[in-house]
Amino acid sequence: MTAVRRELRFLLNDEEVALEHAGPGDSLLEMLRLRRGLCGTKEGCAEGDCGACTVLVGRLRRGQLHYQAVNSCIRLLPSLDGCHVVTVEHLAGPDGGLHPVQQAMVDCHASQCGFCTPGIVMALYALWLERPRPSDGEIRRALQGNLCRCTGYAPILRAAAAAADYGLPEDDGLMRNREAVAARLAAMADGCRVELGGGSVVVPADEDDLADMLEAEPAATMVAGATDIGVWVNKDLRDIAPAVFIGHLDGLGRIAATGEVIEIGAAASYSDAEAALTPAVPGLADYWSRIGGWQIRNMGTVGGNIANGSPIADLPPVLIALGAELVLRRGRARRAMPLEAYFLDYGKQDLAPGEFVEAVRVPKPAAAARLGFYKVSKRRDEDISSVCAGFMVRVRDGRIDAARLAFGGMAATPKRAEAAEAALRGREWGEAAIEAAGRALERDFSPISDWRASAAYRALVARNLLTRFYLDNTPAGSP
Ligand SMILES: Cc1cc2nc3c(=O)[nH]c(=O)nc-3n(C[C@H](O)[C@H](O)[C@H](O)COP(=O)(O)OP(=O)(O)OC[C@H]3O[C@@H](n4cnc5c(N)ncnc54)[C@H](O)[C@@H]3O)c2cc1C
Ligand code: FES
Ligand code: FES
Repeated sequence: MTAVRRELRFLLNDEEVALEHAGPGDSLLEMLRLRRGLCGTKEGCAEGDCGACTVLVGRLRRGQLHYQAVNSCIRLLPSLDGCHVVTVEHLAGPDGGLHPVQQAMVDCHASQCGFCTPGIVMALYALWLERPRPSDGEIRRALQGNLCRCTGYAPILRAAAAAADYGLPEDDGLMRNREAVAARLAAMADGCRVELGGGSVVVPADEDDLADMLEAEPAATMVAGATDIGVWVNKDLRDIAPAVFIGHLDGLGRIAATGEVIEIGAAASYSDAEAALTPAVPGLADYWSRIGGWQIRNMGTVGGNIANGSPIADLPPVLIALGAELVLRRGRARRAMPLEAYFLDYGKQDLAPGEFVEAVRVPKPAAAARLGFYKVSKRRDEDISSVCAGFMVRVRDGRIDAARLAFGGMAATPKRAEAAEAALRGREWGEAAIEAAGRALERDFSPISDWRASAAYRALVARNLLTRFYLDNTPAGSP
């Protein structure tokens, strides 16, 4: 019988917080501003898009304390059990002076109205802790999720590059207190299930506890990174009770590379999966870095991106192209299926009541595989795809003998282009094969028009992406 605790416990800056009352949809940002008066953290969009609400959340994982920049507007309180929340107020030095990142922002004139500034400081603080002397690319990635509407980005980029001249992480309070904070968090980890509000919030003790709970309460909302659910709560005012939180379950976030397969636990964040997958899959890194912004990639999970069944989610086309297998669990029973089989129709997945996504198994592509991953969206960063695609083709003795072409944004579900794949098989790798596959796409898809893109645009983009794939995989000058 799992022991139950009836309060959430976490660290907020230096203070230990115990909350007996927290609703499933209560956000961290609300608590900071309305209940704690920590108004340095701002609210802009309330949907994870602007970064004004950025804070750091630290968590013990296998004994190590990791801090990540997250959006507090869509970070729900129950997910913070056992964590250390760090807000901009915590950056002041012992004499109340500015932090090196803040001083660099001042000296580089990187703040005008100042509304975005605390969020930008927190994103840059997270970067400075990891990489005090970042490259230009690393700075731009760290700021993908932060909007500034009046300063202009050049001074902010200069401040990010200059921060290390004002001080280094080894002298930072958070780093100096790392062991003490880790010990305080370890002392909070009592192995209990947390239940609040008569069961409207459950934070399971472990994966088995989660499986038992979902069998008993199949209608409960599973909350992983809350990058979808936080928006439903804030914008649609959706009631998600009863809700069961899974982001803290290390077993469900485990990533294991065994032989030719990388198994990614459903609760692994985009950022964690990126570190494991992109070195094994040539060409994937750029695509991955365009999913959301840095804060969203630190929060959103691989399992959530698959489970939500969205036809425009970025991971399914890639994972389907790579031949991934999905593992589902209900109670103690597990079943596996090709990922594409999970998506039955719009909003309908092959998931039984009480069942959940446990992991996805991704075969490492063969060295000779021709690979392409493409995302077309209105903005380069922090935007949802109009069309996205994953392609994997194998060529033997000049002829295509295997092809997997998967698209998002072209149908009611992420979907393989089977007619186009058939048009490629057996042909020589060349322009004629690609043109035949492009024509066959008309049989595979009848895309819709919406505010993101028209049907005609989507059809044209899909076809053009095949051509681009061919050009990307064909040395200049060859036929
Ligand atoms: C600002 C912003 C930018 C974004 N940009 C992108 C983008 O570029 N590309 C993209 O694809 N998406 C994007 N998203 C959407 C979002 O990041 C993804 O859909 C995300 O992967 C969802 O994962 P999560 O862990 O946050 O899921 P949650 O919000 O926690 O849950 C989403 C759904 O999945 C269910 N669920 C979660 N885990 C499981 C599980 N293990 N088993 C069964 N059901 C489960 C939940 O119950 C819920 O129905 C963006 C979102 C925001 C707010
Ligand atoms: S308020 Fe805009 S990301 Fe949170
Ligand atoms: S300084 Fe005004 S929005 Fe950035």
